[in-house]
Amino acid sequence: MSFPAGFIWGAASASYQIEGAANDDGKGLSVWDVMCRKPGAIWCNQNGDVACNHYNLYKKDIALMKTLGLMSYRFSISWPRVFPNGIGAVNKKGLDFYSRIVDELLEKGIIPFVTLFHWDYPYELYCKGGWLNSQSPNWFSKYVETVVRVLGDRVEYWLTMNEPQCFIGLGHLEGKHAPGDKLGNAEVLRAGHNALLAHGKAVQIIRGCSKRKANIGFAPAGVVKIPVNNHQKDIDAARNLMFSIRTKQYWNNTWWMDPVYLGKYPEDGLKMYEDELPPFSSEDLSIISQPLDFFGVNIYQGEKVFVNQDGIPDEIANNSDHRFTAFDWPVSPECLYWGPKFFYERYKKPIFITENGMANIDWVMLDNRVHDPQRIDFLARYFREMKRAIADNIDIRAYFHWSLTDNFEWAEGFKKRFGLIYVDYNSQTRIIKDSGFWYQNVIKSNGVDLGFSSI
Ligand code: GCO
Repeated sequence: MSFPAGFIWGAASASYQIEGAANDDGKGLSVWDVMCRKPGAIWCNQNGDVACNHYNLYKKDIALMKTLGLMSYRFSISWPRVFPNGIGAVNKKGLDFYSRIVDELLEKGIIPFVTLFHWDYPYELYCKGGWLNSQSPNWFSKYVETVVRVLGDRVEYWLTMNEPQCFIGLGHLEGKHAPGDKLGNAEVLRAGHNALLAHGKAVQIIRGCSKRKANIGFAPAGVVKIPVNNHQKDIDAARNLMFSIRTKQYWNNTWWMDPVYLGKYPEDGLKMYEDELPPFSSEDLSIISQPLDFFGVNIYQGEKVFVNQDGIPDEIANNSDHRFTAFDWPVSPECLYWGPKFFYERYKKPIFITENGMANIDWVMLDNRVHDPQRIDFLARYFREMKRAIADNIDIRAYFHWSLTDNFEWAEGFKKRFGLIYVDYNSQTRIIKDSGFWYQNVIKSNGVDLGFSSI
């Protein structure tokens, strides 16, 4: 079976993870630039100052995308590269860089898919309170307007922001990601609410300022639950856990998705956070729930769920069947069946998988190639599940592999390699991995050829 006609096969990246040129051509500091200076914050105290030097090597990288046959490339814009202070004067050189990327992609026949915010928040604005400041949605709006006025004559696909669970939760509650704060729930919820408002305002601005028909989405992390088998009670249990908030933590779906798609915060979350909620109005929720064109979601893994002896939905502690990636994430292909299915049923929008992939132990072998059979097997298993979802009438329209090249994996530094293309960070050499060539065939055959004769 092939994927539907027009299915978009792409790959994704994010500015701070690949660009480097951290202090070049007028770029301002981001919270990640500053976080990386804190001793011990990042594996081996590494930083993204140079990363893949994509800022200078973007033409080479886009040529590689063309070799792979990518139909689309998802990349993000660094807010402090465009506005060094977050607001105020625009850095024309920074904006020009993204304009050149868009032109180069279009010339190669690759659809530009722009994420407006993938975590590199301007440090100057952080010093003014960051996402906790009630002005933050307006600061973001101004930045978005500036970008859309320049790129909106050529770009048709936009994502407002990536994984609020991470930049709010990991960044402001756990302190593992920039800005590295460990705030209380009340402040974290306020920051989260402001981020959602910023999303909604950005949608209004993109619609208003784009010269082309804009397709707009949001890219939260998808927290997926997988029924342990096909019994209706286990399916119901998995759905139930996927859409409930049982503990006070940010790693859930509904707190971030329900306001955006259903125009309200989930009841169980409101009850859970009762004493810590920021004040918000119904006007806020109508801004947050601006209509979107698709349901973007990043899905890497899922937990298996069953109904326990007391009839209560529960997670199986070891749900991986003892298969883990180099990040110790469970290999759980069924997440690309149940995730899209449950999200489609609840939110009723075409699904775009905006990220999926795995960290592998890759190195250049004695034949000067990078052989990564685990990644090929991983992807074939995941794609097989995505096919099964499509066969069951789940409307999945796009898939973006994370990532195009190996890159700076946040707190893990350069230790984890997610790319279809290997990067030697000393010489800045790129080598297409076996999985890159495999993906090229998948794209060419629109998903018919997954490379294993048995599937
Ligand atoms: C995400 C992150 C990516 C990560 C990838 C692997 O969206 O989760 O944005 O930047 O690199 O997910 O952890």
